Amino acid sequence: MRYEFDFLVIGSGIAGLSFALKVAEYGKVCVLTKADASEGSTKYAQGGIAAVMYDSDSFDKHIEDTLVAGDGICDEDVVRMTICEAPNRIKELVRYGVNFDKNSDGMFDLHREGGHSDHRILHYKDSTGAEMERGLLQEVRNHPNIILKENQYAVDIITQHHLGQKVTRHTPDIECYGVYVLNSETHKVDTYLAKITLLATGGLGNVYATTTNPVIATGDGVAMVHRARGVLEDMEFVQFHPTSLYNPQERPAFLITEAMRGAGAILKDLKGNEFMQKYDKRLSLAPRDIVARAIDNEMKLSGADHLYLDARHIGKAHLMEGFPNIYAKCLEIGINIAKDMIPIRPAAHYQCGGISVDKNGESSIHHLYAAGECSRTGLHGGNRLASNSLLEAVVYAHNAAMHAIEKVKTVDICQQVPDWNSDGMVLNEEMILITQTRKELQEIMSNYVGIVRSDLRLQRAFDRLNLIYRETEDLYNRSVLTEEICELRNLIACAYLVTKMARNRKENRGLHYSIDYLRK
Ligand code: FAD
Ligand code: SIN
Repeated sequence: MRYEFDFLVIGSGIAGLSFALKVAEYGKVCVLTKADASEGSTKYAQGGIAAVMYDSDSFDKHIEDTLVAGDGICDEDVVRMTICEAPNRIKELVRYGVNFDKNSDGMFDLHREGGHSDHRILHYKDSTGAEMERGLLQEVRNHPNIILKENQYAVDIITQHHLGQKVTRHTPDIECYGVYVLNSETHKVDTYLAKITLLATGGLGNVYATTTNPVIATGDGVAMVHRARGVLEDMEFVQFHPTSLYNPQERPAFLITEAMRGAGAILKDLKGNEFMQKYDKRLSLAPRDIVARAIDNEMKLSGADHLYLDARHIGKAHLMEGFPNIYAKCLEIGINIAKDMIPIRPAAHYQCGGISVDKNGESSIHHLYAAGECSRTGLHGGNRLASNSLLEAVVYAHNAAMHAIEKVKTVDICQQVPDWNSDGMVLNEEMILITQTRKELQEIMSNYVGIVRSDLRLQRAFDRLNLIYRETEDLYNRSVLTEEICELRNLIACAYLVTKMARNRKENRGLHYSIDYLRK
């Protein structure tokens, strides 16, 4: 099948839905998502969204906190723009019907998280993301100009390469004409042509063995742009969340929000002793890279596979009121957090880098925009400040929409695009080739390219990735397309990019921490 739209949006998380709602007055919009519409990291966000809403706080303080977390390599203009835009975008979310908790005098109830010098996290209990996704999705479903299609897997963005022209990383004017999409119901690859395409495909947590990210987070957008010869940056900066619930059988790992440490919960070792005083004077509320490394080190020293978060002193009433979702989840697996310490361990959580975009959300490929976690804007630098990502997603969805609304008037649909050719492809009947390689990849990345790295570990990862890359390309080139083989290919591409950029960074900076470059 062939389809034509003014605006094509890949991804139905906060970034994709926000963009779709804004451009919908200016043309026909299609939002595609590979799973159910609500599935994505957005739905799982607990802590909230950072914004300076009252005079007791200031933009300058939020800017400073973001720059400190980013370890000297944030784009300062981007940081200022994003943070100053935050109140407008929050008001807009409220207009869309998204609820945030308020206190008894009608003011937003603001939480504080690690690295923030003030209380500035708007939240809805401990289910902020689910509430945002609900509000935005409802608006999108009710909009007459937006078509939302679930279970549609974007395989590749269409460029001059598909018209038979040679495209390299040095080709100056690469153009995006739309996307090839695998329909999970018909198993056919459809051609979606668009004047403007937005990638809002989320993160890549599934590159690692333990992650808080949902199963959809396989770095598809990043890998598509890599194959299309677009520019990617900062891929080495993968953020590990210090406190995912230790429940080995569960994937994704359930998150224990940092807001719980903001409310007073304390990290402890297996003997019940505090240990953060050995690592940072901000103790359990130090920036999350420091906390994740401290936990990793304590686990390595003691051989333990988890540590604890102690929230017992916060009190049952406060825990049930402020963290109902976490309270219920832990109880479900036999942990009463008012009486028992919570077993935790770090998990891959957020990709700071990705598809390089300017302040308008435009990528290096013409007519292709990116927003949300798959993009690299310069806001996060070497390390993302907690709760700045939902903010980045809404600010950049807005900027991209404003720019695309003008751009769309100057673009025509490219009619010369051929349909997908699957002649000669055979059905891969050995799923083990895919599932085993995926596990191998996750082990390689967790062991060699995780929280603590070294030149030797990175070299090992690189060599092993090369082998599974070649095996998987060979399988891909003769197989009928399936979501599983496409995701594996994308995970390998992302793992390669993370490892390659980590190898190129000959220093310790932000989230990239190597024992070979310890700071004096
Ligand atoms: P997502 O919400 O992940 O959506 C991605 C979309 O793309 C999905 O619809 C998916 O189906 C679709 N997609 C992907 N690939 C394809 C493909 N090939 N074809 C078609 N569709 C595709 N950030 C904060 O600021 N505050 C928080 O409190 C917070 N808590 C978090 C808690 C958890 C457990 C996690 C995992 C993340 C948290 N984050 C938080 C990070 C934040 O939630 C994400 O960065 C953000 O939601 C990403 O939004 P997004 O729109 O970019 O992507
Ligand atoms: C959390 O709630 O701890 C996660 C916040 C974030 O990832 O920004």
